[in-house]
Order: sequence, then C-alpha cells, then structure tokens
Amino acid sequence: MMNSGARFPMWNWNASSIWGDGMDDLRAHFLEGMSRAATFVAVATTDGDGGRAGVTISSLTSVSADGDQPSLLACIHHQSPAAAAILRNRAFCANLLAEDQQGVSDLFAGRAGSDHAARFDRAEWEAGALGQPVLAGATAVFECRLATALLWETHHIIVGRVHSVRLSDHPAALLYGQRAYRRAVHLPGREV
Ligand SMILES: Cc1cc2nc3c(=O)[nH]c(=O)nc-3n(C[C@H](O)[C@H](O)[C@H](O)COP(=O)(O)O)c2cc1C
Repeated sequence: MMNSGARFPMWNWNASSIWGDGMDDLRAHFLEGMSRAATFVAVATTDGDGGRAGVTISSLTSVSADGDQPSLLACIHHQSPAAAAILRNRAFCANLLAEDQQGVSDLFAGRAGSDHAARFDRAEWEAGALGQPVLAGATAVFECRLATALLWETHHIIVGRVHSVRLSDHPAALLYGQRAYRRAVHLPGREV
C-alpha cells in the first residue's frame, strides 16, 4: 500500500522508522540499513604497469552470466589506490574470501596498518592467466578484464568481463553484516 504523496511505501511500519530526503540523519540511516544487508567479502586485486594493489570489498555483484562472457561489477572508492591501479591495468581479480580468511579481509581493509605494499606479504598469492593476483584458499576467484568504469560521486563502478573462474573445495564464504564477520548457517525448512 502506498501512502499518497510519500516517496516510500508505508507497509505497516511505525512512521518513526522511516527517514526521508532532507532529514539530517538520512546518511546514518542509509548506513545502518545497508549494514543489515549481510554480504560476502572479497578482495579485489590487480597487478601490471599501474602497480600491484588490493582492497577489501563487499560491493561485488554479478551482472550477467549470458553476455559474450559473464560479467560482474565492484564499487571502489575513488581515493583507493586499488581503483586507480585497476583502471590503469585494465584487469583485476575478485577473490571471494573463505570463512577462515577474516585476517586477509582486515589486512586489505587497512585494519592492520597502512602499508599498502606489505598487504600482499601476509598471504599466499599466485599469478592468474591474466597476471592478476590470485589468493590461495579463496572460495572462488574471478579473473577479469576491465570492460568499463563509471565514476559515480565517490566511487568507481567497475565492470569486469570474467576471463576465468577458480573454485576451491571449500565453498563456505566469509560473510559481513551488522559490522561483524559472520558465517552462513543452514535454516531447517523445506528443501528446494
Ligand atoms: C567487509 C568490508 C567491505 C568493504 N567493502 C568496500 C567496498 O565495496 N568498496 C570500497 O571502496 N571499500 C570497501 N571497504 C572499505 C575498504 O576496504 C577500506 O576503506 C580500504 O582498505 C581503505 O582503502 P585503501 O585501499 O585506500 O587503503 C570495505 C571494508 C570492509 C571491512
């Protein structure tokens, strides 16, 4: 049911739980709302003439499995050296972290020091077919060529064409929600 003139559907929420345009705390409530969207965690890495760099991201999203090649996107802050390096190298790797790789997430989120070059020293890497850094033990790895990128306000929306996919024997991905690392649990119910 739409509230006439309102920009948001009302459903049966208490009106005090709705914040809209022009209210001071819209940003804070946006962040709180998004923190409730538990996501997987990946490290986007790149190497080449533009330098080696990596950053922890949760904005990795599948775009299409059915184009010329599968494609995905990631949103990376414009001040992250990883964004600049990906744009120059025109290739990157999305390393989907396994549930035992919280340390790698913290490292590439700058939570273990600000030395960018040293981030790669504390995990095991090999070069993928496009020369991009592939993380040992990652639950899935998508090596991509840069297809296109768009700077939207603070973030580059980076679209990659997937060149290859590696799958580990450990499919359980690390999750992040409500500002903490989490793991998925199976909810008993009807099997589909
Ligand atoms: C779980 C998690 C998810 C994140 N997702 C993103 C993301 O999608 N895009 C982004 O730009 N930063 C994201 N960040 C923040 C960056 O990892 C962090 O700000 C970054 O390491 C600092 O940027 P730097 O590369 O300039 O050091 C995330 C951090 C964490 C812990």
